[in-house]
Amino acid sequence: MSEIVCDRISKIWSPDTPEANLAIDEVSFSVEPGEFLVIIGPSGCGKSTLLSMIAGLEKPTSGSIGFRGEIITEPSPHRSMIFQQPSLFPWLSLIENVAFGLSLQGLGKRERHDRAKKYLQQVGLLKSAHRYPHQLSGGMQQRACIARALCLGADVLLMDEPFAALDVQTRFLMQKFLLDIWQDMQKTVIFVTHHIDEAVYLADQY
Ligand SMILES: Nc1ncnc2c1ncn2[C@@H]1O[C@H](COP(=O)(O)OP(=O)(O)OP(=O)(O)O)[C@@H](O)[C@H]1O
Ligand SMILES: [Mg+2]
Repeated sequence: MSEIVCDRISKIWSPDTPEANLAIDEVSFSVEPGEFLVIIGPSGCGKSTLLSMIAGLEKPTSGSIGFRGEIITEPSPHRSMIFQQPSLFPWLSLIENVAFGLSLQGLGKRERHDRAKKYLQQVGLLKSAHRYPHQLSGGMQQRACIARALCLGADVLLMDEPFAALDVQTRFLMQKFLLDIWQDMQKTVIFVTHHIDEAVYLADQY
């Protein structure tokens, strides 16, 4: 079974108003489990709109999006967004950031921190577990965001230009890092970029 199936989805922002804006027009595609799909296109063509609908943050105006055979109606920790700017809480250390969502799942502190450490190790940040976001580079912060998504149980990573704010060298290292994680952990990735070189390097399908 496909992991994600977009079936003729359209999105009109502000429908029935003079500002009505057709951002997505009858788009269909599917993504298999473990596939790496890259979406490339010019500014304003609807890439972020599409990701936010797959995340369940927005609803399509028509058409449907399925996740493992069920229509998406709301966000889920199984499908996690990673944004261009790292979105960590500045007042929490890395381990607390990564473990934060687990407290909402009712896990005790010891178990939360043990689980967070496992994912910090995976992204090479175990030594920085007790540092705060402002003490880390942009690439390290993005790796922490990826650790947080994985720690909460993400099977699908929805990445919206996640490396666009990084310098060229760090971007390349992060691309390699992401491919390693993807291969080791068999995750499904939908990745948005403006860069054709990045799309060609990363994608199974684009
Ligand atoms: N929350 C929103 N409310 C109203 N209109 C929106 C909203 N988000 C996006 N739009 C509009 O939808 C269209 C597509 O925007 P979107 O952000 O999806 O493009 P994008 O391809 O991600 O662009 P970029 O590459 O610049 O990030 C644009 O015309 C934008 O103004
Ligand atoms: Mg965008």
